[in-house]
This record gives sequence, structure tokens and C-alpha cells, in this order.
Amino acid sequence: MSAAEIRPARPEDCASIATVHVAAWRETFRGLLPEAVIAAQDQAAREALWRPRLEAPPPDSAVLVAEEGPGGPLVAFGACGPQRGTALPFPGEFHALYVLRRAQRAGIGRALMRGMAACLLGHGFDAASLWVLRANLAARAFYTELGGTLVGARENPELGGAPEVAFAWRDLRALAGPGGPGR
Ligand SMILES: CC(C)(COP(=O)(O)OP(=O)(O)OC[C@H]1O[C@@H](n2cnc3c(N)ncnc32)[C@H](O)[C@@H]1OP(=O)(O)O)[C@@H](O)C(=O)NCCC(=O)NCCS
Repeated sequence: MSAAEIRPARPEDCASIATVHVAAWRETFRGLLPEAVIAAQDQAAREALWRPRLEAPPPDSAVLVAEEGPGGPLVAFGACGPQRGTALPFPGEFHALYVLRRAQRAGIGRALMRGMAACLLGHGFDAASLWVLRANLAARAFYTELGGTLVGARENPELGGAPEVAFAWRDLRALAGPGGPGR
């Protein structure tokens, strides 16, 4: 059970989401990605990325955040919506999921995946996938624990050609529903 409060993101969360995004990137990807790729992900770049999505949210997408207690600082966020690429046959996609290291292994990632699965189902997407760095073994173990199955591989030019693998959930109800992997 997560001690954090999960809620939909608001436009005023933009700076906090960018802060979590940059911090989690540095904590997770130092040593896994070229340093230049990591250095480019600064606060201003991340705020520019998230601001339009929070101020004018696409109707079939969602951004969820986790507060450390009611009204507390944000420690995690997740984003989902339609499939962005053409390589995978699943209608929905988990676009991002980041939990600060100090808040990990407390059920927050599971709660965000469960909440995003419910949002995707609400938008009419019954299956979804995501891309994760092949070398990110911790995240891969997490997605496997939540019932995801490996469905693809690529080299991502936006990350200096880093190898990634794809996980998919063919029935999001199992992830979203009570008693399933998203419990
Ligand atoms: C991967 C991540 C989202 C998991 O979130 P979390 O809140 O730490 O995970 P949860 O506490 O919900 O874990 C649920 C279960 O997943 C598995 N799991 C989670 N983290 C794991 C790890 N590092 N190693 C092995 N299994 C793990 C466990 O079975 C865990 O249950 P348990 O703690 O009762 O054993 C989080 O660690 C994170 O944001 N990492 C940094 C950024 C990142 O890699 N994002 C993914 C990019 S695609």
C-alpha cells in the first residue's frame, strides 16, 4: 500500500514535475546514458516539455502525480495516452514514470501504473505498452512484477542510440483492477 497521495496533475505542478523528472533522470541514468544526454535534461527543458501538456491536456491523455502526504512535495509522476509510434500494435502507451529514489519501494510506482491503466481504459484503450532502457534492470523487474511482457526492442536515436526494450499489457483491466498486479 502506498503512503503517497495520487492525484491528477494541475498546471501549477509544472515546475515540481520538471524537478522530479530531472532528479530521477540523474539518479537513474548516470552511467547508463552518455553524460551529454543527461546534461541536456535540465529544469528549463523539462518545464518546456510539460507545460503545454499540463495547460492544454490532450483529451485522451493523463498525467498523475504522487504527493508525499496531502499537499506535500511531489515525489513521483506518470504520464500516459495514445501510442506515439508505429512500431507497436497497442493503442495506449505509458509515456513516463518517475519515482524519486528516496520514495522508491513504497508502492508508489505500482499505484501510478494502476491509476494510469484506469485512465487509459477510461479513454477506450484496452492495451498499452512502454519503452524502457534495456540496461535499466530495476525498472524491468518492476514492469515484469506488474505483469508486463517483453514485446519489442529498438535503439533510440533521441538517447544517443541507447538500446531499449518494450513491455506491454494486453489487458489493462488486470493492471487496473483490484487483486491484479496493480493491487
Ligand atoms: C521503476 C520504478 C518506477 C518503480 O517504482 P517504485 O515505487 O519504486 O516500485 P513499487 O514500490 O511500486 O514496487 C512494486 C514491486 O515492483 C518490484 N520492484 C520495484 N522496484 C524494484 C527493483 N529495484 N528491483 C527489483 N524489483 C523491483 C517489486 O516486486 C516491488 O514489490 P516489493 O517492494 O513489495 O518487493 C521506480 O523505481 C523509478 O521511478 N525508478 C527510476 C526511474 C525509472 O527507471 N523509471 C522507468 C523509466 S521507463
